[in-house]
Amino acid sequence: MEHSIQLDHITLGVCYYPEHWPETLWEDDLIRMKEHGIEVIRIAEFAWNLFEPTQGNFTFAFFDRFMEAVRRQEMKVIFCTPTATPPAWLTEAYPEVLNVDLEGHPVYHGMRRHYNYNSPVYRRFTETIVEKLAEHYGSHPNIIGWQIDNELNCECDVFYSEADHRAFREYLKNKYQMLDNLNESLGMTFWNQTYTDWNQVYLPRKNYHNSPNPHLALEEKKFFSQSAVSYCKLQSDILRRYLKNGQFITTNGHFGHLDYQELMDQSLDFLCYDSYPDFAFDLGADPKRPGNLNDRKWSWSLIKTRSISSNFGIMEQQSGANGWTTRMEAPAPKPGQMRLWTMQSIAHGADFISYFRWRTCWIGTEIYWHGLNDYSNEPNRRLEELKAIYRDIRVMGEIAGAKYQAKIAVVKDYPNEWDGEHDRWHGPLSNFSDDGWFRATQLTHTPCDFLYLWQKSSLQELAAYDVLIYPHATILTEETAGLLKKYVEQGGTLVFGARTGYKDEYGRCPMRPMAGYAGELCGVRIADYTFLGPYDEKQTAVWNGKEIDAPFFNDVLEVTAPEAKVEASFTSNYYQGSPALVSRKIGRGTAYYFGAGFSMETAKAFLTELGIGAPYSDCLTIPPQCELAVRKKGGQEYFFVLNYKEYPCTVELKQPMKDILSGRERSGAQELPPYGVMVLSR
Ligand code: GAL
Repeated sequence: MEHSIQLDHITLGVCYYPEHWPETLWEDDLIRMKEHGIEVIRIAEFAWNLFEPTQGNFTFAFFDRFMEAVRRQEMKVIFCTPTATPPAWLTEAYPEVLNVDLEGHPVYHGMRRHYNYNSPVYRRFTETIVEKLAEHYGSHPNIIGWQIDNELNCECDVFYSEADHRAFREYLKNKYQMLDNLNESLGMTFWNQTYTDWNQVYLPRKNYHNSPNPHLALEEKKFFSQSAVSYCKLQSDILRRYLKNGQFITTNGHFGHLDYQELMDQSLDFLCYDSYPDFAFDLGADPKRPGNLNDRKWSWSLIKTRSISSNFGIMEQQSGANGWTTRMEAPAPKPGQMRLWTMQSIAHGADFISYFRWRTCWIGTEIYWHGLNDYSNEPNRRLEELKAIYRDIRVMGEIAGAKYQAKIAVVKDYPNEWDGEHDRWHGPLSNFSDDGWFRATQLTHTPCDFLYLWQKSSLQELAAYDVLIYPHATILTEETAGLLKKYVEQGGTLVFGARTGYKDEYGRCPMRPMAGYAGELCGVRIADYTFLGPYDEKQTAVWNGKEIDAPFFNDVLEVTAPEAKVEASFTSNYYQGSPALVSRKIGRGTAYYFGAGFSMETAKAFLTELGIGAPYSDCLTIPPQCELAVRKKGGQEYFFVLNYKEYPCTVELKQPMKDILSGRERSGAQELPPYGVMVLSR
């Protein structure tokens, strides 16, 4: 099932906290929001105490008063379940609801996400508060949808309370049934880890070098994910019983140890993301270093959001400088950047943009985290910029529902991401190659998607792409390899990189020729392999007469199938002359095995040699400092050109196009101002 926000026009919203401001200000705030084009507010995600000030005593008076103002002003609302911040009366009376860290220390009350998903007590309190809210507000005409919790797995994505250890035992019992089966599957005979009673089983706990049994550590991540999914479902099941008028259910952000395909499938209508491009500034690095994409790197997170929810919302869009009491992240957005970042989100498929937050908070941990209004509530340049955004949004409304266009996807899956956290070859290699593919596709203006493989992935989803890059599928099951083979047979191009296919679903390395099922598919065997250490020379390979980078890790290949073809060989090191890249035609398509990682230069070479780079160069010439994104609805294509730099540039339209923002026809050379945005259609 496709998960997608359904809106008939691009819509603006804002995060609002009535509990932070005098009631006399509410109405004025709502009126001013509307003047700035804001149609939706998100409320209540941290307000449990206002509904249940003491255990079992429920009151809705405060939010009822606020919702009256909302009704008068005809504002739409996304209402939240307040479970990210359990009240002090609860954590004090029931300390078992608190999370515990790897070393066994409880996480005390005072911040947020200090609870654990598996505590039966916390689940009971959650059920009650969600039910009470759903009963009371579920049919409210101004509420268009619900947000569950806030940023599941943000702040913390590991959980070691007593309840988690117990639930982990149950999870494993369910999966393995017999202890012998568990011992065998997770390799417990190594270092005498064999269990003889279920009570000996724990989530991996603190040990020397933080070096747990890797198979148990992989189960741990699957379990963390399942815990969050089931906690979210607990809430969505209750909400669904009460919601009226087509109200949707969503949550915000994506974080570690959570399988979002599963989360969508079980609970949600679509995903919202929280976009703070300032986080992408690599403050330690030289911002002028070539290839340092800074805030543009945030598009990578938006690509991931789109892989979960084809059209999505931004529940929190950055509107000012970041900072907590302990975190002063980066400069305030320069004039034009808030608009640029808004358009970055829309370019990638967001149809709803809600800013964080209406006014900079005057109390608490986030007093340095700036919103649209300053503490003073006086006019400022960010509010002026919002007015300009509102003007743009009005003329762009029709773009809602248009789908992002990409013919190439980087394939991903959660087990490999989680296994890579301990596998010090695979994890860093994957990050390196992600960076390579991101920068190569960005700088050549080749729109790119992610495709997450999971148990419900279909051939049809894969076949939507001409080329799939599965950079380092260390864990590759027979089933996944079968699906990929069908994709190639029907005409697809598949590219694997080094370290593929040598682990099974438990993260074990079974006795068989490497690269396992990928080797069978591509007609290769890995004869030798090595990490390229600091003393190794730069490795390259020659492909179609051109030298390409073959960095980070090398798989030295041998051809095992008669129709497999050596495309490139290594140029140095003790395996100089051995195959580095092998291709094999299968049905109407081709599978490639490349025995290295992908730097930006390597990825660019693949885009060129496979003939899939720069697919819009026939109609647009765009300088590298700009991102190109394309959305399409019906026969209409929308081109977003985003200038991330503080200086202007020239974009060349090789055919006449409509400039949506000005309403004019344009062709030829066009100047794009600093942080400027162009939205064209044809
Ligand atoms: C998000 C969170 C918000 C706010 C914001 C700024 O992660 O959802 O509640 O804390 O960051 O810190």
